[in-house]
Amino acid sequence: MCGIVGYVGKEACADILVDALRKLEYRGYDSAGIAVFEGEKIKTVKAKGKINDGLVARLSEQPKLYATCGIGHTRWATHGEPSDVNSHPIGNGRVSIVHNGIIENYRELKAFLTSKGYGFESETDTETVAKLLDYYYQGDPVEAIAKALDDIEGAYALGIIFREHKNKIFAVRKDSPLIVGKGETESFIASDVTAILEHTREYYFMERNEIAVLDESGISFVDVHGDPIEKELQIATWDVAAAQKGGYEHFMLKEIFEQPDAVRNTVSPRVKDGMPDLSECGLTEEKIRGYKNIYIVGCGSAMHSGMVGKYLIEDLARIPVIVDIASEFRYRNPLVSEGDLVVIISQSGETADTLEALKLSKKKGAETLAVVNVVGSSIAREADMVIYTNAGPEISVCSTKAYAVQVAFMYMFAFAVAYARGAIDAEKCRQLTDSLLGVPEKIRLCLDNVSGYQYVASKIFNADSLLYIGRGLDNALSMEGSLKLKEISYIHSEAYAAGELKHGTISLIEEGTPVIVAATQTALWEKTLSNVREVKSRGAKVIMICRESAVLDENCADYKVGLPEAEDMFLPLISVVAMQLIAYYTAVQRGCDVDKPRNLAKSVTVE
Ligand code: F6R
Repeated sequence: MCGIVGYVGKEACADILVDALRKLEYRGYDSAGIAVFEGEKIKTVKAKGKINDGLVARLSEQPKLYATCGIGHTRWATHGEPSDVNSHPIGNGRVSIVHNGIIENYRELKAFLTSKGYGFESETDTETVAKLLDYYYQGDPVEAIAKALDDIEGAYALGIIFREHKNKIFAVRKDSPLIVGKGETESFIASDVTAILEHTREYYFMERNEIAVLDESGISFVDVHGDPIEKELQIATWDVAAAQKGGYEHFMLKEIFEQPDAVRNTVSPRVKDGMPDLSECGLTEEKIRGYKNIYIVGCGSAMHSGMVGKYLIEDLARIPVIVDIASEFRYRNPLVSEGDLVVIISQSGETADTLEALKLSKKKGAETLAVVNVVGSSIAREADMVIYTNAGPEISVCSTKAYAVQVAFMYMFAFAVAYARGAIDAEKCRQLTDSLLGVPEKIRLCLDNVSGYQYVASKIFNADSLLYIGRGLDNALSMEGSLKLKEISYIHSEAYAAGELKHGTISLIEEGTPVIVAATQTALWEKTLSNVREVKSRGAKVIMICRESAVLDENCADYKVGLPEAEDMFLPLISVVAMQLIAYYTAVQRGCDVDKPRNLAKSVTVE
């Protein structure tokens, strides 16, 4: 949801800003721009479209910029359509800003500023902040920022420059992510650390309403009264290679192939004496025994991983688990109360609805466990306990490895809960944990079947609509498969519990409708086959994702995607690779922009 960068140092900064923006393009890509100090003025260049199509083309039409300080932005539109004028940076020549987030009271601010004689060019909420800063500015930027923050309601990360304070950047945040990077002779602001990794790994997290001041001499932090703040320097563990494509055609493909390592990195460090050990976050056996209910909350793929968790925990630990979509949970007055555990799942750790669900759970007295990938993200910092999923940076908008590690953690969590509550003994727990440790190798085997996935893609890429069906754990898997496909290939698809089809949705089946069937669970095999026959006899083209060893007659499936042998319980984690690669190759065949699907952004920091 918009990416922000800023640079001050000794180098000409236009290319540095554009390069950093490219790394943040996953956060939004409907327009981009930069504003730099050129002579005594602020020079702004911005354009609708992806960075290379819009901003870079526009910059190439201009005389070269030699400025050594500036701010940049890549946008995911919330207020006002994608257009040149609605692109950031936004300002009036005296002050220029880049903004990520939403200004909730922008209408009131606009009315106030209009009454003071200000005019507005864009349809953005951001312009009200730029004009408000201008209104309060009397020579002291920190004072102007402090006054403006008092008036603003909503979420924001802001990079600000004032014409009269040449080669200085001011930055502030509330609820939208922002870090400040410290190089040898240069300083940065960025929405996330991947944008600046090739320059430095040292950075500071910004806390709410701290103001960062960056200039050629370095970085300082002050509070809204202008008093200095000491902050702890962080060192990023992600390296530059992790944030690059490394020879793959798309980040999504690279990230799919990284899954064996990602799952291993999530699981292995948390196995002690063959048992799952979650004590690093404070989740002791005693605590686990005490919880009355377990809730799992997230959005999109993160919520789907929670659904896998529900099946596993309920089956193994015999305790009810409530899974909810964060945007529903937070507005339905959930029954959460003291004594409950709420597990909050999020790759980015910044998803607005998920963050609010977390805050609500805490307010209602529950204990919260965040399962997040991005270290130091808002959700990680807000939760009572944190587990980092160690997937490394996920750049493609479509989640793959981040989902796999969330699911991998769900297994560990389910084993730990089942053992702590006495539903399984130590021997069983060790055996399950050992099987989980073997999953990365099975995922690797699944990755070998590229031609199989490409074949399936060639059979469905022309379809208008598709169904995904499965039962039990396969139902959760189908939901994830369907989401992947529609997200990146723009083919409509729906995931349905296989047994539920005949209660309405089966009427959608006509001659040639593709149906992708997840059938990994032995106990449900015959039941699923009956559902397959129901759709097949009505003309469906059936693609079965099942064990390689499964014997199928032609009345059953048109094509089989074979999976390696594994215990039933683990197959949904292994076979998600098939779902991801079918979606990937379908999108490629349709010529879609796989890493940056239309209308989407990676980190959804607005509700
Ligand atoms: C789908 C996808 C989204 C995210 C969802 C939650 O491929 O990426 O559905 O899973 O937006 O994002 P996080 O996990 O960052 O909270």
